[in-house]
Amino acid sequence: MLILAIESSCDDTAAAVLEDNRQVLSNVINSQFEVHARYGGIVPELASRCHIENIWPVVHEALDAAGISLTEIELIAATRGPGLVGSLLVGFTFAKAVALVNSIPCTGVDHMAGHLLAVMLEEQRPAFPYTALVVSGGNTSLFTVNSTTEFLLQGRTRDDAAGEAFDKVAKLLQLGYPGGPVVGKLAEKGNPKAIAFPRAWLDQGSLDFSFSGLKTSVVNYVNRCRQKNLPLPVADICASFEQAVVDVLVEKTILAAKKSGHKRVVIGGGVAANSQLRSQISNRCSEEGMDAFIPSPVYCTDNAAMIGLAGYYQFAKGATVGPDADAFSRSPLN
Ligand code: KG4
Repeated sequence: MLILAIESSCDDTAAAVLEDNRQVLSNVINSQFEVHARYGGIVPELASRCHIENIWPVVHEALDAAGISLTEIELIAATRGPGLVGSLLVGFTFAKAVALVNSIPCTGVDHMAGHLLAVMLEEQRPAFPYTALVVSGGNTSLFTVNSTTEFLLQGRTRDDAAGEAFDKVAKLLQLGYPGGPVVGKLAEKGNPKAIAFPRAWLDQGSLDFSFSGLKTSVVNYVNRCRQKNLPLPVADICASFEQAVVDVLVEKTILAAKKSGHKRVVIGGGVAANSQLRSQISNRCSEEGMDAFIPSPVYCTDNAAMIGLAGYYQFAKGATVGPDADAFSRSPLN
C-alpha cells in the first residue's frame, strides 16, 4: 500500500511517501526556523500562513522524490492533533480535501502515536511491550506501548516540556531558536558539574516531570551574574542545565520500565536528538540489562514518515475520517 503522509502540527511542513509499514520512499521537511527565529519562539499565526504556502510544494517534492504520482496513492495519513490548531488545520484539511477529490481513504493520526512508533522506521525494531519516553517542545510523557495502536500513559510533565525548557534557556542566553540543538552543542564544551541546578524528582516513585523550577533556577543564576557584572559561563550553564534535564529524563524512564517489568526502552521526540540523552539512556539501559531503541535524529524531530507509519496501523484497524472530521489541540492519549 502506498501512503502519502502529512505533518503540520507545529512549525514544520512535512510530507512523506511510504510503502506499507516498511519502506520510506521519501521524507521531506520544510522548516520555518528562519521565520520564527527573530521572535525567539513560534508565532502561531505566522506558522499557519507558512504551512499554507508550503503544503503543496512539500507534497509535490515528496511525491517526486518517491517517483510516485498522486493517482497511485492508496491512503493519506495526516496529523490530526495535538498541536497548534491553526497549523494542524492546514495539513489536515489539505489531506481530507485531496483524499475526497481523488477518492482515496484518509486517516487522522495522533502526533504522539507517531513519536511512540517512529523507532519502527529503523532496521532494529523493538518487540512489544516497551516503555517509551516522548520528549519534545510540547510534551514530556512516559508510555507503555503494548501494540501499534495501544498506548498507556504512565507519567507526564506537570508544567513545561523538556524541549520548551531548552528553548527558554536558549532565549535567556540569546542563543536563538530552536534552543535544543544550540544548547546541546555548547554543552559539549562546558562542565556539567559546574553549577548545581536542581532536579525535580517529585514524590517518591512518581513518573511525572517538572521543569519550571529548573528553568527559574537558570534565570536566577543568569540574573545574579548580570547584576554583579560577571562574565556569563555560557558553556557551563548549558552543560549543567542539560545534565539536570537528562538525569531526570533517564532515571524516570528507567523507573517506568522497571515498574512495568519491561526490558525494552524507546525514546522519541525532538529532545531525543540530544546526544547526551542518547548516550546516557543507552548506558543506563545496559547497566540495567535493558535494550535501548533510539530513532535516528531525523525521525526524532517532527517528520511525516512517522505519521505515515502510525496511519498505516490505524487504517489497518479500520479508522478513517470523513471531510467533517476536526483537528484537536490536546491528545486523548496524554
Ligand atoms: O518533536 P519536535 O521536533 O517538535 C515538537 O515539539 O513536537 O521537538 C522540537 C523540540 C524543540 O524544543 C527543540 O529545542 C528540541 O526539540 N530539540 C532538542 C534538540 N533538537 C531539538 N533539544 C535538545 N537537544 C537537541 N539536540
